[in-house]
Amino acid sequence: MEKAYAPYSEFRVGAALAGPDGTVFVGCNVENAAYPAGICAERAALSAAVAGGVTSFDLLVIVSEADDPTPPCGMCRQALVEFAPRLPIVSFTREGREAEWTLASLLPHPFTPAALTHHHQ
Ligand code: THU
Repeated sequence: MEKAYAPYSEFRVGAALAGPDGTVFVGCNVENAAYPAGICAERAALSAAVAGGVTSFDLLVIVSEADDPTPPCGMCRQALVEFAPRLPIVSFTREGREAEWTLASLLPHPFTPAALTHHHQ
């Protein structure tokens, strides 16, 4: 979160994704003058993990500047469900308030790779 580039929203977010062997990949939100070109912390962490050769995950930890612990946005939920449909998620505020969810609870009835494989049947 301290490394986030968020001059437009001034809402900094950090994310850490843990792989099954305990390796942790981090990400932060990186905004852009062309607003939609920005990326969330969670998808930045996911990209770092995949580039590092890790594609299954045991835990996502989020920290943000919100007053209440923030869950990942809808686009990040969809990006994550591809790899870890039952991912446990823990979110913290800077004051140490905490919330926990599973990705399955945040994104019921997800669109998954199975939908594509059944397309021609
Ligand atoms: N953001 C994240 O990085 N993760 C979230 O879960 C919610 C939103 C970022 C996107 C944007 O840079 C800023 O927070 C405000 O929406």
